[in-house]
Order: sequence, then C-alpha cells, then structure tokens
Amino acid sequence: MRSIEDHDLFPSTPGKVKIERTNMLNRQFYRCFASTSTMFVWALFLIALTASYLSFQSFVDPKNRHYPISWGGLNWEKQVRTSAQIRESRQRGMSVLVTGAAGFVGSHVSLALKKRGDGVVGLDNFNDYYDPSLKRARKSLLNENGIFVVEGDINDARLLAKLFDVVAFSHVMHLAAQAGVRYAMKNPGSYIHSNIAGLVTLLETCKAAVPQPSFVWASSSSVYGLNEKVPFSESDQTDQPASLYAATKKSGEEITHTYNHIYGLSVTGLRFFTVYGPWGRPDMAYFSFTRNILQGKPITVYRGKNRADLARDFTFIDDIVKGCLGSLDTSGKSTGTGGKKRGPAPYRIFNLGNTSPVTVPTLVSILERHLKVKAKKNFVDMPGNGDVPFTHANISLARSELGYKPSTDLQTGLKKFVKWYLSYYGYHHNGKSVN
Ligand SMILES: NC(=O)c1ccc[n+]([C@@H]2O[C@H](COP(=O)([O-])OP(=O)(O)OC[C@H]3O[C@@H](n4cnc5c(N)ncnc54)[C@H](O)[C@@H]3O)[C@@H](O)[C@H]2O)c1
Ligand SMILES: *[C@@H]1O[C@H](CO)[C@@H](O)[C@H](O)[C@H]1NC(C)=O
Repeated sequence: MRSIEDHDLFPSTPGKVKIERTNMLNRQFYRCFASTSTMFVWALFLIALTASYLSFQSFVDPKNRHYPISWGGLNWEKQVRTSAQIRESRQRGMSVLVTGAAGFVGSHVSLALKKRGDGVVGLDNFNDYYDPSLKRARKSLLNENGIFVVEGDINDARLLAKLFDVVAFSHVMHLAAQAGVRYAMKNPGSYIHSNIAGLVTLLETCKAAVPQPSFVWASSSSVYGLNEKVPFSESDQTDQPASLYAATKKSGEEITHTYNHIYGLSVTGLRFFTVYGPWGRPDMAYFSFTRNILQGKPITVYRGKNRADLARDFTFIDDIVKGCLGSLDTSGKSTGTGGKKRGPAPYRIFNLGNTSPVTVPTLVSILERHLKVKAKKNFVDMPGNGDVPFTHANISLARSELGYKPSTDLQTGLKKFVKWYLSYYGYHHNGKSVN
C-alpha cells in the first residue's frame, strides 16, 4: 500500500541519495498526511452520522417537522365529522372544507353554508398578520353555529390527509392566504408560504383524495395589475402584476390550471374586488380609516398620477358570499385522471365585483356621515408600493354562469360595517369608547 502510494506521489524520483532523502521527507509528509487524513475521515464519519440521523428523523416524521401535532384523537375526529354533517332535510347538500375560516370572507362563507344545511369544517392557522383576537372572535361565532374550526396550516400535508381521511369532502372552499398588497414588501416569504407552497400542498391532497373534491378558491382583482382598459374582463391579459401579492395570485391561477389539466380537478378561481363589511379586515383602508376617524387621528389618502383620486370597485361581503355559494353549486365534479373519457373537468375564472367603482375621498365622506365625525385627511402622492390606481369589474360572466347579482351599494354596506364596528369595539352611540 505504502510503496504504491509513495510511488504514486513521487512517480519519477531519480538518484539513490535523493531517494533516501525524499523517502525521509516522504515519511514525515506521510505522518503529517496520515494524521490529517485520519481527522478528515473522522470528520466525514461524523458528518455522515449527523446526516443519516437527520434523514432518519425526517423519514420517521417527514411532513410534521415544523408542525407540532395539536390535532387528532377520537374526540377531535368526532368534532370534525359532526361539523361536516349535512342536515338531513337538505337535498343534495355538500360537505365543504373551508380554509381561512377564521378570516373575514371565510367566516361569512362558513356561516352561510351551515345556515342552508351544508356540512362545514374550517381550517385556519390564526397567524398574527392582523389582530388574532378578531380571528378568535369569528371562530367563537362559528362554534356557536355548530362549525368546528381546526387550528392548523395548509402546508401541513399530514393534517390535510387526516381531514380527508375522516371526511369525504365534496368541495374545498380555499380562502386561506396571505392577503394585503403593501405587506409583501415587509414579509415576502409569507406570500410564498401560504399562497404558493400552501396552495400546492392543498392541491396535492385534493388530487389524491377519493373522491376528488371540487376546488373553489379566491384569486384577486389585483391580477389585472396595471391594466388600463376598463372594465376588467376575465379574458383580459393579466401579465402585469404590480405587487408580489398579485403575482402569487396569478401564479395560483396557473398552478390550479395544471391540477385541472393533469388530474381532472374541478377548479373555480374567483377574482374578488375589494371586499368590505362587518367582521372585516383591520388592514384594509375602510377599516383603518374608521378606527382613526373615531380616535381623532389623521388618515392618509393616497392620490395617483396627476392627483387623480384612487378608485375601488368595493364589494359588500354578502354579495361575495352569494358568489362563492353560486360557484360551489355550479362547480361540477372533478373527473380524476380518467377525465378524458368522461369529458374534462371544468376550469373557470370569475370576477366577483360590484361594477361601480367609488373614489377613496367618497369612501371617506360616507364614513364621516355614518360616524358623525369629520376626518383629518392627509393627501399623499401614491408611492410605488404595489397599489393600483383603480379597479372596475365586468361581472357579466359571473352573472350568466353563477346568477351573481350584487345588490348592496357602498352607502348601505358601510352603514352595516360601521354598526358592527361600533358594537364590536364597544362604542356607545354618542361615539365614545367604553374601553
Ligand atoms: N378581502 C378582500 O378584499 C380580498 C380581495 C381579493 C382577494 N381576497 C382573497 O380572499 C381570501 C380571503 O381573504 P380575507 O379578506 O378573508 O383575508 P383574511 O386574512 O381575513 O383571511 C385569511 C385567513 O387565512 C388564514 N391563513 C393564512 N395563511 C394560512 C395558512 N398558511 N394556513 C392556514 N390558514 C392560513 C389567516 O389566518 C386568515 O384567517 C384570500 O385568499 C384573499 O387573498 C380578498
Ligand atoms: C364583459 O365580459 C363579457 C364576457 O365575459 C364580454 O363579452 C363583454 O364584452 C365584456 N364587456 C365589456 C364592456 O368589456
């Protein structure tokens, strides 16, 4: 061994004396090399040991490494099963898994489904993107109405598999997401986590489920990005997103398309236009304006190019809920991978808007009237932070396919919101807080 090595190391060593000297050097070198190489081997061994330990760990518990089990057990399963039960009197009812059920839209959709007799199981991770106590309060409301909300993440594949194990969901209403446009500049990872990775994990579960559920989910009007042609129609191009949020929603439309194409999953994507109403989201302008106006704090009103007012196609929550239920009712069945024989599963996209954009200053003046308080307005030129100057939905497709017919104007809707806000946050009618 050694001579071969020596020879290899010094293949052309001429002269005897030189050979002896080189041999001496060789031996020194070899000793040194031997100890280094021993260390090297030991290091390799330790690395291999650690690696095999880690891979063994993930082999034992592959999908649950980041999600400690806070679910499971006989009682838990019973609660899930009971919640998913369809009322006996209901004809052709559905059992729906609603993700983001502790969220604004999710809580409303869950209640509406339960009210008409469908089975509903909620799923939400109660993250603190905004005050989680509001999510807890929505959850209590759902509990009171016989809806169980599972606490977990849509990235937890084991939890999802378990849920489908316990209940053969006929539909998934996927509303869990990282929402908000500006927050993407602060925490881009959260958008990838929930809107991309979480979506794929959920789709993998749906595709593998027997039977496959129909999949209805929330995209966003933000996919229209910087488009200037109004109103926004579903067939318009959507390749100019103005924010990472919009880009993840657009990706979602394309990702769901592949699951429809390859696995025969019935998919309906809903492009919501600025949804507002009771139990709404504190990060949205109408909500934070209300809070600030009541607290006597100034509000920031953004203005677009050439001082043009920003405008939004504000859509009242009850109208959105009707659009969601209409989508579930007309979603058609998933066909599985054998879909070619039985005809392809549907892939649909709908705008759910109100078709009447209102400028932000008008929004503020309606709030002032309902709150009976004057707002302190700071007009600021819109920074390039992902917001688009205006949105306006063409809803004729949803009207003809879903029977979608929004019926609440901003005046009426905001009146309901303000009424809820004052009572939820404990304001008396004179506008003073009791807290
Ligand atoms: N409200 C709007 O104006 C509007 C407009 C367009 C699109 N949307 C979309 O509609 C859907 C519902 O929006 P919303 O206004 O009710 O928002 P929301 O934030 O109130 O609800 C989303 C819920 O999902 C949960 N969630 C987030 N990531 C999760 C994860 N990884 N696992 C489990 N739960 C998770 C959150 O805790 C939250 O309760 C979202 O997909 C949103 O992007 C909303
Ligand atoms: C609205 O959408 C429908 C179908 O989706 C389309 O036929 C119609 O031309 C659109 N209307 C406008 C004004 O863009």
